[in-house]
Amino acid sequence: MTNKETIVVIGAGVIGLSTALRLQQTLHPNQSILIVAREFPNTTSLNYASPWAGAHYRPVPARTAQAAREERQAQRTYQHFKTLASTEPAAGIQALDGIEHLENPPAEYLDARTVEDFFGHLDGFRQLGPSEVPAEVKWAVQYKSFAVNSPVYCAYMLRKFILQGGQTKEYTLADAREAFHLADGAVKTVVNCSGMGFGDPKSFIIRGQTCLVRNPCSVTLTRQNSDGSWSFCIPRPLDGGTIIGGTKQPRDWDPNPSLETRERLLSNAAKWFPFAPGSEGKFDVIRDIVGRRPAREGGMRIEVESIAGNQCIVHAYGVGGRGFELSWGVAEDVVALVRERGLVRAKASL
Ligand SMILES: Cc1cc2nc3c(=O)[nH]c(=O)nc-3n(C[C@H](O)[C@H](O)[C@H](O)COP(=O)(O)OP(=O)(O)OC[C@H]3O[C@@H](n4cnc5c(N)ncnc54)[C@H](O)[C@@H]3O)c2cc1C
Ligand SMILES: *[C@@H]1O[C@H](CO)[C@@H](O)[C@H](O)[C@H]1NC(C)=O
Ligand SMILES: *[C@@H]1O[C@H](CO)[C@@H](O)[C@H](O)[C@H]1NC(C)=O
Ligand SMILES: *[C@@H]1O[C@H](CO)[C@@H](O)[C@H](O)[C@H]1NC(C)=O
Repeated sequence: MTNKETIVVIGAGVIGLSTALRLQQTLHPNQSILIVAREFPNTTSLNYASPWAGAHYRPVPARTAQAAREERQAQRTYQHFKTLASTEPAAGIQALDGIEHLENPPAEYLDARTVEDFFGHLDGFRQLGPSEVPAEVKWAVQYKSFAVNSPVYCAYMLRKFILQGGQTKEYTLADAREAFHLADGAVKTVVNCSGMGFGDPKSFIIRGQTCLVRNPCSVTLTRQNSDGSWSFCIPRPLDGGTIIGGTKQPRDWDPNPSLETRERLLSNAAKWFPFAPGSEGKFDVIRDIVGRRPAREGGMRIEVESIAGNQCIVHAYGVGGRGFELSWGVAEDVVALVRERGLVRAKASL
């Protein structure tokens, strides 16, 4: 171990874990990876977003450069989830029908070209006709989506990382530069997957409140309401219950679940989501969830920063509300940056 060059990954959320796993495929025999993080999947904390996520796969069409980049990352993740769902059931990712009902669709949903760009890659994609949806729904689609049991998936990735020779260290950094001194071997490369991290003025949180219930549901349905707010249900694979959501509250630091929000989420869910017969609008609540999505003005920072003496930090933080959906594409983008600099092998060994 001591003669090895160590690549340090800061963070053990979905971004750090995906990046570490993807990096393991391109290491030189004399390299190893150390994940340094304050939180790992064996713990929960308000400032550790990943275990709180829904999480499902749903395209977000928009005509911005950020949306286009995210869409490329999402499509690569879609392919990765498809493989995992069929080959590794213990990962906690399951294929299921995704349905969207919009009452007041934004302009991009009404543009055929944009719809093709953002939804065209989805298996079984089709628009739903008026006879298939409630009268007030103006735009509706169905496609093959994926649901992720987020705590299970994170634990699975960490297990796999360790099985493949990865090292871990529980540690809270005050500055990413500390990371160059935390391994036994020499460190040239640090990957900064710290989520909301520490001290970037462009970073901010988006509070999300959801409710985890025992009631089973077989599809993930997303509904946009006439006031522009969104509601969704996401079954958690491997008997993890169903997530009913949710709120998006930028810069809201309230750590406590609001009872009023819970009531609203559940009463909407009773009206709109296809829960198994027998529910009759009554929900068996496991717990309220409050999480903080690590967002950043202008989108995620994916960038190499050179440090004196041929060291570098590759930043990959601030993914916002779609960390699972974009995770594998982000990991591939980071690995491409590391590879361009000749810091790992040119070719992946799969
Ligand atoms: C209610 C809710 C619903 C969501 N639904 C979805 C969904 O349906 N689909 C989807 O894709 N996403 C969803 N998300 C978003 C998703 O959870 C995030 O995008 C994702 O978890 C971010 O991952 P991350 O690895 O960047 O950050 P995190 O999971 O927050 O991980 C950050 C890591 O960095 C470490 N770290 C931070 N600072 C330091 C430090 N100073 N020293 C050492 N370590 C440090 C932390 O300990 C942690 O290990 C949802 C989020 C919420 C809250
Ligand atoms: C590891 O191997 C690579 C390629 O063989 C080489 O460029 C690098 O300097 C080596 N690192 C160490 C610490 O020996
Ligand atoms: C949680 O996992 C990390 C990383 O593997 C480990 O360092 C830490 O000791 C574990 N903590 C507990 C309480 O098991
Ligand atoms: C690592 O990322 C955090 C944001 O999470 C940022 O504030 C910090 O500046 C980065 N570290 C360095 C040394 O750039």
